[in-house]
Amino acid sequence: MSSIDDLLSCYLKQNQELFGNTLYLEKTASMPEQNDTQPEPAMRLSSFYEQIRHCEQCSLGKTRTNFVFGDGNENADLVFVGEAPGKQEDLLGIPFVGRAGKLLDRILEAINLKRSDIFICNVLKCRPPNNRDPLAGEIEQCEPYLQTQLEMINPKVIITLGRVAAKTLLHLDLPLGQMRNNTYLYHGIDTVVTYHPAALLRNPNLKKPAWEDFQRIRDTYLITE
Ligand code: URA
Repeated sequence: MSSIDDLLSCYLKQNQELFGNTLYLEKTASMPEQNDTQPEPAMRLSSFYEQIRHCEQCSLGKTRTNFVFGDGNENADLVFVGEAPGKQEDLLGIPFVGRAGKLLDRILEAINLKRSDIFICNVLKCRPPNNRDPLAGEIEQCEPYLQTQLEMINPKVIITLGRVAAKTLLHLDLPLGQMRNNTYLYHGIDTVVTYHPAALLRNPNLKKPAWEDFQRIRDTYLITE
């Protein structure tokens, strides 16, 4: 018999002498108690929202109407990340509800997705006044919130909409046209870069390549046979 078997048999004998046929085992790290189990992502996300919704880490906390946390399915396989709330989003507290959001809804529908199938949020949770570009310091303050959201949801794929989201998550400062044909990894999660729907509204020539990106997303992550 090996020494491990000797030790085990000795331990079992002692245990039997002390406690009869009831076996008492010490709790180890690999034996979680009932209440150690992870809460559902939805519960964790909503309590995270409660923790951060009054954020005033940067000056946008003073000028916003609503903190725009994110919206959709907390168990989603696909998470879309935009730039920052615009006027409508700030008023309603929900991301992508303005013109760009309506276009995104139509694109999602074309690949058989509803808003309730995905989770959608932004790099910044508060609207920059007059829709100016986010400042580097604002992104730096807000990025950990996005990082935690992505960790909690742990989707199959992240889709970044526009350069700001791609640059923030992937630390790549390249023209979008150069980034969009690749799949990157963000903390082990596939990440696909595509155009922001507002860019498609400004420049309809981008609709064709954007549609190719969404077909690729559909064929890679939605068709499972
Ligand atoms: N543009 C974004 O990047 N996010 C929104 O929520 C709305 C418009």
